[in-house]
Amino acid sequence: MNEGHRRPVVVVLPGDGIGPEVTAAGLAVLASAAKRFGLEYTCREMPFGGRAVDLEGEPFPEATRRACLEADAVLMGAVGGPAWDKLPAELRPERGLLAIRRELGAYANVRPIRLPPALVRLSPLRPEIVEGGLDIVFVRELTGGLYFGPKRRIPPAAGEDPASEAAEDVMRYSAAEVRRVAEVAFALAAGRSGRLVSVDKENVLACSRLWRETVTRVAEAWPRVALEHMYVDNCAMQLVKNPRRFDVILTENTFGDILTDLGGAIVGSLGLCPSASLGGRAGLYEPVHGSAPDIAGRGTANPVGSILSVAMMLRHTFGREDAARAVESAVDRVLTAGRLTADLGGSVGTAEFGRYVAEEVARGDNRGV
Ligand code: NAD
Ligand code: IPM
Ligand code: MN
Repeated sequence: MNEGHRRPVVVVLPGDGIGPEVTAAGLAVLASAAKRFGLEYTCREMPFGGRAVDLEGEPFPEATRRACLEADAVLMGAVGGPAWDKLPAELRPERGLLAIRRELGAYANVRPIRLPPALVRLSPLRPEIVEGGLDIVFVRELTGGLYFGPKRRIPPAAGEDPASEAAEDVMRYSAAEVRRVAEVAFALAAGRSGRLVSVDKENVLACSRLWRETVTRVAEAWPRVALEHMYVDNCAMQLVKNPRRFDVILTENTFGDILTDLGGAIVGSLGLCPSASLGGRAGLYEPVHGSAPDIAGRGTANPVGSILSVAMMLRHTFGREDAARAVESAVDRVLTAGRLTADLGGSVGTAEFGRYVAEEVARGDNRGV
């Protein structure tokens, strides 16, 4: 934020399913952190996703789009659900999410996968595999690749077998797109252990060959970062067999989508995982999980992904590392005290969990940070 004393504007897009539930908890924690650290901001809630389809006939209405483009930060909940699954592709809530990422230009999706040492019992992996905890950061390319290439259905020619109908999604990357997201990953790795794994499928895909060549060239400017290339199938296996070997992982859009759900699984729940999408005109902050229709409306969802996304907003948009760490350590303390939501085997509700964290933030105990 470089605009003097103007209050940052946070556009809030609660979305669908558990989105509004977890976002309310995230906002309660933001309010508590703002009070403690003397931060001011303005929230603007806007319709987005399936809810916007119902209200206005499209997932990413013009007024929401304008608000996002004028915002300093966007906090998104989750979008989608069975009610909208049969809509034409361009009206699906998920399309709105892709549009907002692209419009903002948020090409670097940073997804930390953390399991503090005191919580290793939450992992479904054997204790000796996760002993000491996990701390991995994925950098997922977010505005290119298969998600954004041309797509089409190719109908069968008249009189031909209907099974000759086909479909096509084009994966395309420019070297410039690879380079800019690689720079983010190298900078991150340089500030951590200096180990970066770039994940691709270079043995098969032309895009991956360009990816590997480009990342290798970027590495020349980062002599203190040790770069390793790994195939995506092997990476999936290593994340389960030996996740502690990883520090920063850089990968393209589709591989990053899949591998980060695996990351959520190995720390015990996808509900624990936040993200920040950087590089664009405003930071976009969203949990990694979806709208979880199977548990929506019950007040039982895990809000940690949203709360830690708020911490990332405090770090990257507000520039307040102190406030970000206060939120992260408050989450750790609440979890370590055994206050767990249903996905982690507990019975604490979404709003209740949010209140515990907000209270911890207000208390201002930064032990363990
Ligand atoms: P999902 O992430 O919504 O749910 C997968 C599983 O994880 C479910 O069993 C769910 O109950 C559980 N889960 C997810 N988040 C949780 C939380 N915070 N607390 C407790 N449990 C949690 O994925 P899905 O079921 O494949 O997709 C559901 C809908 O969400 C689809 O419409 C999909 O397109 C959409 N989606 C949206 C986003 C997003 O908005 N960023 C991300 C992924 C999926
Ligand atoms: C995610 C989600 C989205 C993605 C979907 C909902 C478009 O799964 O943020 O991981 O694939 O990027
Ligand atoms: Mn996903």
